[in-house]
Amino acid sequence: MRRFDDGRVEVLSSIVASQVKDHAPYGGVVPEIAARAHVEVIDAIAAQAMAAAGVGYADLTGVAATAGPGLVGGVMVGLSFGKAVALARGLPLVAVNHLEGHALSARLAADLPYPFLLLLVSGGHCQLLAVEGVGAHRRLGTTIDDAAGEAFDKIAKVMGLPYPGGPALERLAEGGDAERHVLPRMLLGRAGCDFSFSGLKTAAARLAEQVTDETERRDLAAAVQAAIARQLAERADRALALYAREHEGRSLRFVVAGGVAANKAVRARLEAAAAARGFSFTAPPLAYCTDNAAMIALAGAERLAQGLCDPLDAEARPRWPLDAAAAAARPTHATGRKGAKA
Ligand code: KG4
Ligand code: ZN
Repeated sequence: MRRFDDGRVEVLSSIVASQVKDHAPYGGVVPEIAARAHVEVIDAIAAQAMAAAGVGYADLTGVAATAGPGLVGGVMVGLSFGKAVALARGLPLVAVNHLEGHALSARLAADLPYPFLLLLVSGGHCQLLAVEGVGAHRRLGTTIDDAAGEAFDKIAKVMGLPYPGGPALERLAEGGDAERHVLPRMLLGRAGCDFSFSGLKTAAARLAEQVTDETERRDLAAAVQAAIARQLAERADRALALYAREHEGRSLRFVVAGGVAANKAVRARLEAAAAARGFSFTAPPLAYCTDNAAMIALAGAERLAQGLCDPLDAEARPRWPLDAAAAAARPTHATGRKGAKA
């Protein structure tokens, strides 16, 4: 990636090596397979990215690598590779939070100034964040059980769809009647901006057992997709209202990012919610919604421009909340012995 002095960026190349085929037989991500697959391809992918960009290592001014949160095996592979390049070339290293990559991803292709309200919806996360700038994130809400992508994936699995379930469910839902099956509206009218998907998952699993023909299956997929989109929009609306009050008289911007932002029904619902509250709406192009290197490069470049970089012994972090204070005060999702994941 090239970053200009005025803050504009140009993505010179962004190569994604998908592991979907490696994990598909198991119906989900297998940590050992993920780590090994990273080791096997990292050299070739880096070489391919450099070649596609038409640059050599001598042209680089910095190296950004994801340092967490997530499965630590794969994170360690990428971070070690980044450290090696930084050490060999005497370049600054930026250890990037994967979630910050998603948070900034909409800035890759749109003129999107700070601050903005962000809905981050991926396989592991479902959060509303006030993004004030690089490294300045305030969490307004999070999921109290599953992430939105997790809900898509788990429901798709009980419906017999292949992994990853989100895109497969979206394809099946095409042309389906979303009104035929009634699914619960979780947390309806409840204060705050948190999300919940577990009741929806249970109800959908029960319906999936009763569904017999293809039409009913398609209708169920449409109902599930609509229910997830509605949950996201209803809860986001509370954050939109809160954020609008806090930012009275200023430009209001709403952004959705993460793998689930690739879903057209979700985008449409959120765009309508934003418009109703007087917010502009931005979603990254599809290729920048799901995990990609360009968003990590952007977060790295923005940090570097502010003089922020990390030591060569920066650690891979399986748990790394964007808003550490909120995560510690209210660790509602994916917590464990070592604290809040995100
Ligand atoms: O951001 P991402 O690529 O990886 C994580 O950091 O989690 O998000 C992956 C998630 C998966 O749960 C996947 O099923 C979901 O995003 N996803 C979708 C769609 N594309 C990806 N969910 C619904 N509709 C889609 N089109
Ligand atoms: Zn991600």
